[in-house]
Amino acid sequence: SVLEMEVEQINKGKYEHYMQKEIHEQPESLTTTMRGRLIRGGSCKSMSVLLGGIKDHLKTIRRSRRIVFIGCGTSYNAALAARPILEELSGIPVSVEIASDLLDRQGPIYREDTAIFVSQSGETADTLQALEYALENGALCVGITNTVGSAIARHTHCGVHINAGCEIGVASTKAYTSQIVVMAMLALAIGDNTLSSQARREAIIDGLFDLPSKVKEVLKLDQEMKNLAQLLIAEQSLLVFGRGYNYATALEGALKVKEVALMHSEGILAGEMKHGPLALVDETLPIVVVATQDACFSKQQSVIQQLHARKGRLIVMCTKGDAASACVGGSCRVIEVPQVEDCLQPVINIVPLQLLAYHLTVLRGYNVDQPRNLAKSVTTQ
Ligand code: AGP
Repeated sequence: SVLEMEVEQINKGKYEHYMQKEIHEQPESLTTTMRGRLIRGGSCKSMSVLLGGIKDHLKTIRRSRRIVFIGCGTSYNAALAARPILEELSGIPVSVEIASDLLDRQGPIYREDTAIFVSQSGETADTLQALEYALENGALCVGITNTVGSAIARHTHCGVHINAGCEIGVASTKAYTSQIVVMAMLALAIGDNTLSSQARREAIIDGLFDLPSKVKEVLKLDQEMKNLAQLLIAEQSLLVFGRGYNYATALEGALKVKEVALMHSEGILAGEMKHGPLALVDETLPIVVVATQDACFSKQQSVIQQLHARKGRLIVMCTKGDAASACVGGSCRVIEVPQVEDCLQPVINIVPLQLLAYHLTVLRGYNVDQPRNLAKSVTTQ
């Protein structure tokens, strides 16, 4: 109806689509995600992170034999992005499961496990069923959701709300970045505050405080991403290479491109390149390589070199000021992004890819907020 359309326009404010609004809202949504939960410096260093919903269960979580993240789609990708920092700070083995796959295998879940259910809606059928399964197996079940009162929030033993605000676009954007931030805070909360980890912990907390302003900065790439979308508008396919903290960025960037722009896209673990994907590379196929500064940078340089040797059409995402060293062995288009603490870099790096997927969709004339065949929450199996 006309009224519904008017209400929708009011909700979207100055934006044309919800996805666009939600991408640009991320400096604010990240701020609300962290509000009241971070305590910097001072005399109470051990209280650096306060997650009220799980504080009574922290001891049990710390004693667990394994942490298993369970989710679908973007929520699964967010867990993958957070795994390295959780492993580093907690020392507990972390596995990440796609809910349907865990159920298909009836994979082992034990009483000594902490099972963490990640879901924006809190209503995803596969994730909910995996939760029932984990409860039956006696694991401690923790929820990370964006929806107060959702089924997953109600059925878990405890949890953390991501407080990203209502997400309407079918493509998850601001929930993804808030999920990663919550899981980074969770890593800080679980990890021991030892002398040897103190500098790292403080760097992460400082990084979290700075994150909203860095996201604001990376959002300035909007026009540049629109230009890139123009260039890619008629492509059949787009590959995205990442590794380490940014393997998740590759998967999530590709998921955005396929689900809204309806273009085939695949996120590839760069370490697997020689084990198959390299055969696809020629002078026509566009490839995004995420090569921002972290411990994997030199490995990514050699991947870029090898892609150049196969005449790959490269778009390299690198740290600001790093274009020359990242783009080794040939010429390429670059996307320069601000640097943050390595484990938080996925929050920055996904933003240009969200913008790219958004502009590709609009330019290709598809429905941004309601891609064909998809629903916001998948409540059937
Ligand atoms: C994300 O863009 C997708 N629409 C989809 O993968 C989604 O993340 C998935 O269905 C899980 O949803 P949830 O987070 O609400 O459980």
